[in-house]
Amino acid sequence: MKELAVVSDGAVAVRDGKIVAVGDTRELESIVEVRDRDVIDATGKVVMPGFVDAHTHLVFAGSREQEFELRLQGAKWTEILKQGGGILNTVRATRNASIETLVRLGSAALDRMLSYGTTTVEAKSGYGLTLRDEIKILEAIAILDRQHAIDLVPTFVGAHAIPPEFRNKDDYVALVINEMIPKVAERGLAEFCDITCEDGVFCIEQSRRILEAAKQHGLRPKIHADEIVPLGGAELAAEVGAISAGHLIQASDRGIREMAKAGVIGTLLPGTAFCLMVSKYPDARTMIQHGLPIALGTDFNPGTSVTESMQMILTLSCLQMKMTPAETIVAATINAAHAINRAHEIGSLEVGKKADVIVLDVPNYKHIPYHFGVNLVEKVIKDGRVVVARNPNAGICYG
Ligand code: NIG
Ligand code: FE
Repeated sequence: MKELAVVSDGAVAVRDGKIVAVGDTRELESIVEVRDRDVIDATGKVVMPGFVDAHTHLVFAGSREQEFELRLQGAKWTEILKQGGGILNTVRATRNASIETLVRLGSAALDRMLSYGTTTVEAKSGYGLTLRDEIKILEAIAILDRQHAIDLVPTFVGAHAIPPEFRNKDDYVALVINEMIPKVAERGLAEFCDITCEDGVFCIEQSRRILEAAKQHGLRPKIHADEIVPLGGAELAAEVGAISAGHLIQASDRGIREMAKAGVIGTLLPGTAFCLMVSKYPDARTMIQHGLPIALGTDFNPGTSVTESMQMILTLSCLQMKMTPAETIVAATINAAHAINRAHEIGSLEVGKKADVIVLDVPNYKHIPYHFGVNLVEKVIKDGRVVVARNPNAGICYG
């Protein structure tokens, strides 16, 4: 993760939406025939693969700025959830929203993501919590994938929270296992199944049952693990062979080692620690030392991480988790692609991969986490087409 294969004075050649050559500009000019009008000049700038956002809760209705203010006064996310707010607040708004509304809101969020350089997004359901509403969200994700330039990878999270109409948690677990998972799998609406394995939400044993059932139906497991208290979610991720585990703020040393051994990717989401104002961030340095591959995501959601910007996440990863700029770029591109099973087609500028390329108006990649709170992306090329062209630094000159 420490090393980026930087080509100075490099070029990328693209045809029919795919990368056909990468390397030194002069060499490429001698082997690839180009028409001047098809050239994008990125002299003095950084050209890199589009960001892959490995963990988002893209589709929801409503917003939670009231709770934001309550949390500023000391209210805790878990307490708000226990009192029927938090995720359940968004569940009410999402249940009341039509699929058209969800598509419109999701599309606006995707526009913001694209303008900040994200070209592929993992999108979770989980604000429906009935079979009908979970399917509605997954269908909205499928529509957005077809309509929007950004590629979406769908994850089913029926076990995001316990819906208010269920007194008995195990009854809801049974509904997820016996009705939701089979239906979602049968209709091919998701590739992965995620779960909130957290104190007061789903315990280890319930999480294990749900993820084992998901596997039987061909959905690969993911986990929200050890975010708020150390429950053993990292160990469970290793045990069930999850493709990735998210958060890991409280993950044990043993859990991290077991994940590394089992080939699970750690998806770190520092936007939540920032937004929840907790002093502890995931221990990225120890994870990297143990050989755990790290991916990054925004965790975009209306409660714990209200941002579409992977650039913001890179800055937080450096400043709060002491990742190097190079490590954050690896984590936000190729490792994130691995975390959503797309590394064969995206996440790096390699011949044969999708031409998902971004141009940033910075003189070298270290500026990306260093210069924060503004959008450094100048152009976004998705599947070989320029889909965003802006002039971020008008008037700013790097000396
Ligand atoms: O990743 N299980 C937690 N889900 C989200 C929070 C969702 C919300 O607060 O609406 C998370 O932190
Ligand atoms: Fe999440």
